[in-house]
Amino acid sequence: MNARDLKFDEVIMGRRSIRGFLDKPVPRELIEEIMELAFRAPSSFNNQCWNFSVVSGEPLERIRQGNVEGILAGIPDSREFRTHDKQSGDHRARQIEVAKQLFGAMGIEREDKDGRQDWVLRGFRQFDAPVSVVVTYDRDLLGSDVAPFDCGSVTTALVNAAWSRGLGCVINSQGIMQSPVVREHAGIPDDQVIMKAVAMGWPDESFPANAVVSERKSVDEAARFVGFE
Ligand SMILES: Cc1cc2nc3c(=O)[nH]c(=O)nc-3n(C[C@H](O)[C@H](O)[C@H](O)COP(=O)(O)O)c2cc1C
Repeated sequence: MNARDLKFDEVIMGRRSIRGFLDKPVPRELIEEIMELAFRAPSSFNNQCWNFSVVSGEPLERIRQGNVEGILAGIPDSREFRTHDKQSGDHRARQIEVAKQLFGAMGIEREDKDGRQDWVLRGFRQFDAPVSVVVTYDRDLLGSDVAPFDCGSVTTALVNAAWSRGLGCVINSQGIMQSPVVREHAGIPDDQVIMKAVAMGWPDESFPANAVVSERKSVDEAARFVGFE
């Protein structure tokens, strides 16, 4: 079926993170079309504080190289978004579950240190995708929760819109761990804060990890209904 014929439910239920891409360019016009859909996302007071730097070709290769070199040299993670300490409890359990699914699909055993290292480095290369969309927000909102919320809103819309046009994505933190490298090669202005990256391209259907469907909490677990009969 042509991806453009997918119904809303089919896009939402069919989308999954894509971590293996065909070596085939993505037309700029198609990315623009996807962005027009994504930009209908809601935002606080309609502030639309998001910005996108769409990177491909040589600059993306330089980002991949700088990112991997920095990680291998042990340069501490210098991402700009704030994070928490280690995951624990249910969060950690879900992280382990999806990692098991991915490693299982790729045939990477627990004791296969090289295989695991290769996989991690692949992530730092943004899975060799032909396009990386660097999501940033306006620096004057730094410190509030508004910008992260609104960036999440538009980025979710972006990956679903991409799926509805046959493109696969993985939202990733790994690609921007060395944010100064990304800032330099993508030419991100100083008045923008780097939030996340989205690796984007045509899914390689033969890549095993692309078939992984991750678990979700049930509605019973995640929602409470108050005031219903
Ligand atoms: C904010 C955010 C950061 C993420 N960072 C990474 C990453 O660095 N590497 C990676 O392989 N996947 C990353 N992911 C993808 C998640 O692992 C994935 O969305 C989750 O396991 C659910 O799977 P699904 O997207 O296939 O439904 C990230 C997703 C989000 C929303």
